[in-house]
Amino acid sequence: MMVNELRFHHIGIACHDIEVTKPFYVALGYVASETVKDPVQNIFICFLDKPGMPKLELLAPVDEQSPVNRTLAASGVTPYHVCYEVENLEATIKELKGQRFVRVSKPATACAINSRRVCFLYNKDVGLIELVEA
Ligand code: NI
Repeated sequence: MMVNELRFHHIGIACHDIEVTKPFYVALGYVASETVKDPVQNIFICFLDKPGMPKLELLAPVDEQSPVNRTLAASGVTPYHVCYEVENLEATIKELKGQRFVRVSKPATACAINSRRVCFLYNKDVGLIELVEA
């Protein structure tokens, strides 16, 4: 089954301000990427990497239209999504739709991940997941 082929890629953490949240992780030994603005998702993104630790992504709003604002208002700084790498984006989306996931964004190019295509899906029992095409 295709869903068995989902490979963990990163955990996205919603935060108000990357520069305020990032130092905690840098002190843990994570190396931070440059912060980039993703004009498609309307968010600022910074990836955090440390060998042997899960890859993290800090997401912060660009303006009041940013999709993370609702999560920040409801929960404050919090894990926001788990991202999985998949071989075939369309086929995996189709399969997940059969498992009560709804697509919350169209597949779009993510400038922060080497312009690979990503898509967000939601299931009320699982939460928000992101798929990134291998
Ligand atoms: Ni992400």
